[in-house]
Amino acid sequence: MATTVLRFTLLLILLSSALSDLCNPQDKKVLLQIKKDLNNPYLLASWDPNTDCCDWYTIECDLKTHRIISLTIFDSAPSNFSAQIPPSVGQLPYLETLEFHKLPKLTGPLQPAIAKLTNLKSLRISNTNLSGSVPSFLAQLTNLTFLDLSFNNLTGSIPASLSQLQNLISLRLDRNHLTGPIPSSFGLFKSNPDIILSHNNLTGTIPPSIGNLNFTHIDLSRNKLEGDASSIFGPNKTVQIVDLSRNQLSFDLSNVEFSTSLTSLDINHNKVYGNLPQGLTALNFQFLNVSYNRLCGQIPVGGTLQSFDIYEYFHNKCLCGSPLPKCT
Ligand SMILES: *[C@@H]1O[C@H](CO)[C@@H](O)[C@H](O)[C@H]1NC(C)=O
Ligand SMILES: *[C@@H]1O[C@H](CO)[C@@H](O)[C@H](O)[C@H]1NC(C)=O
Ligand SMILES: *[C@@H]1O[C@H](CO)[C@@H](O)[C@H](O)[C@H]1NC(C)=O
Ligand SMILES: *[C@@H]1O[C@H](CO)[C@@H](O)[C@H](O)[C@H]1NC(C)=O
Ligand SMILES: *[C@@H]1O[C@H](CO)[C@@H](O)[C@H](O)[C@H]1NC(C)=O
Ligand SMILES: *[C@@H]1O[C@H](CO)[C@@H](O)[C@H](O)[C@H]1NC(C)=O
Ligand SMILES: *[C@@H]1O[C@H](CO)[C@@H](O)[C@H](O)[C@H]1NC(C)=O
Ligand SMILES: *[C@@H]1O[C@H](CO)[C@@H](O)[C@H](O)[C@H]1NC(C)=O
Repeated sequence: MATTVLRFTLLLILLSSALSDLCNPQDKKVLLQIKKDLNNPYLLASWDPNTDCCDWYTIECDLKTHRIISLTIFDSAPSNFSAQIPPSVGQLPYLETLEFHKLPKLTGPLQPAIAKLTNLKSLRISNTNLSGSVPSFLAQLTNLTFLDLSFNNLTGSIPASLSQLQNLISLRLDRNHLTGPIPSSFGLFKSNPDIILSHNNLTGTIPPSIGNLNFTHIDLSRNKLEGDASSIFGPNKTVQIVDLSRNQLSFDLSNVEFSTSLTSLDINHNKVYGNLPQGLTALNFQFLNVSYNRLCGQIPVGGTLQSFDIYEYFHNKCLCGSPLPKCT
């Protein structure tokens, strides 16, 4: 009698676990391959073949189709995780979010198989040791709204084809070793993405076509850019945060018109000349730094301009007036 009950219970448990395994079998197979390719890291210990993969850590399934739509591999603690991006990620066709973050021992190139993931909306591979170039195949992922390849070991130039990503809201390629110019095709972005390219070795001028864009945040700091940056500004822009610091930009600031949306402007360590325009007093700056340039003349009085320290104005050619010493 007891054994019959036990058998029956066992059968029930087996049945219910089979029924509750909503995960698509093909997706599960691919995930187990990914785990193997990543050398079975402790981080993925919950990826147990006997359980429903929709319940696994770092995975998200679509509620209706139960296909894998999100894979985010993120390590908050230092680990011995050492691998390349597994080619098998290309076999999760419903993926909308793919993330590898804070994995210092993730090396090798951005896996070409990622080009197959045409449903991707968000791709973030950051704080890894990914190397090679920013591949032009990314331009095929036209559903992308977020592309973040920051804090890696990427080299080469930025592919002009990225401007085909017409749904992009945010582009981050900062903190790599990228060289070459900012593609002038960036002016063709219809979605006005925020553009963060700081801490690279980009050269050349900021393409004037950038002036066609109406982004909120642009950060081109710590590169080797030269020439004019005034196309970023203008009375009708929506830009709020502009960081152009530590480049070799050289243009006359005197006649630049600023939109009232601007709350943060950093141009320190460039070769910007002319005067600080009177229009700056109409703005409500939370952050301003024009130090280490070639500016001249009196700092206009008013607005938030006198709320900053000398360190935000010093080391210019002949800038004077509060908070700097009086003009003579
Ligand atoms: C990582 O370290 C843990 C504990 O030291 C060990 O159990 C595991 O096998 C290691 N994993 C790899 C991929 O070396
Ligand atoms: C890349 O690897 C080096 C050591 O090889 C390490 O010092 C560095 O922190 C790693 N970079 C990232 C972003 O994790
Ligand atoms: C973008 O996503 C939509 C659904 O949101 C899908 O119908 C379309 O095929 C995707 N685009 C591409 C290029 O796959
Ligand atoms: C970063 O890239 C450089 C060459 O571009 C290479 O020498 C170095 O080993 C890479 N670092 C890592 C940790 O992969
Ligand atoms: C930029 O290039 C110089 C050499 O020209 C190099 O020393 C520096 O590390 C590079 N910076 C980045 C962020 O790649
Ligand atoms: C800004 O907008 C105003 C009013 O819509 C327009 O008259 C002016 O030409 C615009 N200025 C620029 C530089 O686009
Ligand atoms: C930027 O957006 C604002 C508000 O949406 C609009 O008034 C302005 O004309 C736009 N400017 C440009 C250069 O597209
Ligand atoms: C402005 O830039 C200068 C030069 O890099 C720096 O010394 C100063 O601390 C900066 N001010 C702020 C508030 O960051």
